[in-house]
Amino acid sequence: MRVGVLTGGGDCPGLNAVIRAVVRKGEAVYGDQLVGFRHGWRGVVEGETVELTIGSTRGLIHRGGTILGTSRTNPFQSDDGVARVLDTLQRERIDALIAIGGEGTLGAASKLTAEGVSVIGVPKTIDNDLAGNDYTVGFHTAVQVATDAIDRLHSTAESHDRVIVVEVMGRHAGWIALHSGMAGGANIILIPEVPFDIDQVCRYVEARFRLHYAPIIVVSEGAKPKEGEEHLHSGEKDAFGHVRLGGIGEYLANEIEMRTGKEARTTVLGHVQRGGTPTARDRWLATRFGLHAIDAVATGKWGMMVALQGADIVTVPLAEATKELKVVDTALYAEAEVLFG
Ligand code: F6P
Repeated sequence: MRVGVLTGGGDCPGLNAVIRAVVRKGEAVYGDQLVGFRHGWRGVVEGETVELTIGSTRGLIHRGGTILGTSRTNPFQSDDGVARVLDTLQRERIDALIAIGGEGTLGAASKLTAEGVSVIGVPKTIDNDLAGNDYTVGFHTAVQVATDAIDRLHSTAESHDRVIVVEVMGRHAGWIALHSGMAGGANIILIPEVPFDIDQVCRYVEARFRLHYAPIIVVSEGAKPKEGEEHLHSGEKDAFGHVRLGGIGEYLANEIEMRTGKEARTTVLGHVQRGGTPTARDRWLATRFGLHAIDAVATGKWGMMVALQGADIVTVPLAEATKELKVVDTALYAEAEVLFG
């Protein structure tokens, strides 16, 4: 078979490990020809391809980013986008397509299945917010990067007897904040799913200082105060309608300084969470997803996404995985809340 591969949406560590595994098993076991599309759906719309072979994908397992490039192009946004996708696939004689992406990229993949495209999805995003799946590729590395940063910020916060607010990524889901905050011994964790009370945040801060420790607050970029809105970086939206967030860390530091009289600083981790080498756990997950994705191609499981459930890789319908975001439930948050203050 001729199998296309693309990586779409925000990049993350582990994408190359998925590509490598798909190519290794596709070529060696199934005798497939692998064709990479450049820059996500944009490469399919515009017909920009690159040949992928075992030889050309060697030495990739530890490399961050994606050798295929990525974009947030949505083929359903322009009038002729879908027709151009279908044209390219026909011209390139593509029998099946493996789309490695988050809810935007895989949402488009799901809709293309209805147009007769033979698609298999692979879940990746540092946000870990795809349904039907325990962990996405890239999440573990992002949590490790954030935890390492929190560990370092503790000592400087202690030296200066000040508050440090660490802003992590996570638009609508607080998974990175919850995991890194718990692993890093944060004083408070604030997530988009649970609007916070600024008076309570200040009470936790003061309680921490009374114990002669300096508070570290981990906040998702999408967290918002009760009766408030999320902090937008700008009004601009991407092709999937996602807004650009930013500023909640700075807002919190200012409010805390004003209300408690204690000095506060903000560290915004930003894209450092998405860059660089994947952790061993992400390489392992990415490789297993890649191997199972090419198996799903061989068995014709169109419209399905490979997913981790417990220790098993299973397949779930793309339509189910992209219907609603997997967010942190309040019981899980309550578990962490016991450690606040
Ligand atoms: O979707 C993954 C993500 O990293 C979000 O956590 C974040 O809000 C967004 O991408 C940032 O996107 P961009 O690449 O446009 O800066």
